[in-house]
Amino acid sequence: MSRAYRVSYIEGDGIGPEIFASARAVLDVLSDSFKISFEFVATPAGDKALKDFGAALPKQSYAAIRESDLCLKAPVGETAKETILFLRQELDLYANIRPAKNYPYIESKFSDVDLVIVRENTEDLYVGREFEEMNGKKAIALKVVTEAASKRIARTAFEIALSRHETRSSSGSQSEPSVVCVQKSNVLPMTDGLFLRSCDSVSKSFPSVKYSSMYVDTAAMNLVRSPEAFDVIVTSNMYGDILSDEASQVVGGLGVASSANYGDDFAVFEPVHGCAPDIAGKGIANPLSMLFTTKMMLEWLGAKRQDPSCLAASKSLESAISAVTRSGMKTPDIGGNSSTEIVTRAICAEIRRQTGRALDDGRFEIMKEDVLLKW
Ligand code: IPM
Ligand code: MN
Repeated sequence: MSRAYRVSYIEGDGIGPEIFASARAVLDVLSDSFKISFEFVATPAGDKALKDFGAALPKQSYAAIRESDLCLKAPVGETAKETILFLRQELDLYANIRPAKNYPYIESKFSDVDLVIVRENTEDLYVGREFEEMNGKKAIALKVVTEAASKRIARTAFEIALSRHETRSSSGSQSEPSVVCVQKSNVLPMTDGLFLRSCDSVSKSFPSVKYSSMYVDTAAMNLVRSPEAFDVIVTSNMYGDILSDEASQVVGGLGVASSANYGDDFAVFEPVHGCAPDIAGKGIANPLSMLFTTKMMLEWLGAKRQDPSCLAASKSLESAISAVTRSGMKTPDIGGNSSTEIVTRAICAEIRRQTGRALDDGRFEIMKEDVLLKW
């Protein structure tokens, strides 16, 4: 066994617990097959935590998250501001990474999309500084952009472009790495202008990456016109929020959209979507967004902790997802009629099959004891 990774987790609200259960089941199988040891710590947060403990992110949860190696989070409801926005700010998780990739058996109008949105995650309108004047008849929000944060996210984007290129060339692809800086500096020459100038300046240190800029309205149009043309998009917080929902739709929808919030030493992994209360409890939520998110978590551990077992586990998970979607076992949102649990069981069985383990014996419940927090 490699060292134990302490995973704090937020089951969230709505469909959160259902898709989180899927991630747990898959991680238990991967842990067994690849000899990776995980210690799971429940860190309640979200609407239910607010009801149960009087805080959307109880102090105990926050403390336990800080002591963990990473946090795996399912969507929460109305308390996103107190939970995920708080974590992004407090833990300085400055890079929100949102891939959108076509998989052959997940229906989409396109077939060759493989892009990633690198969203600045700490500034812009998300600093939450709003105020009112004229007795509430006028409202003002501050958009904050700094050179330091803009350059930092630009560097992340270029590094991601290079590492994606390395992976793709090793599998025979000829495509050149590119970064597009998305902003609206024609209307906001100071804020978005600073973001653009910061990206321009960082681009000089990465001569092997093709660099260009695009206004956000044009980018929104091109994302539905020719999404295959994008590689890495670097953008500010609010544009990244909007464009990442749009990008999910060109590869199968929010049911498959994963994301990671990276700081220098810590990360929170979460699906892009919300907690979908309309389908909660029906057993039909697509677990793939949570499972692709789990794949990102394993890749991050593999890279950060130089752990080849985690990298191998992430590849196995991706190929199991491909095999199961190929067989037609999918949830209704992506054209199938299987339940969350059936898809999950099939993916677990496929991992076991690939890794030469016994076939799925029907287990779906959580196999390991959690570390329980003291309240
Ligand atoms: C996201 C979400 C959050 C955001 C909300 C829930 C605050 O939409 O992660 O994309 O706006 O960042
Ligand atoms: Mn969003």
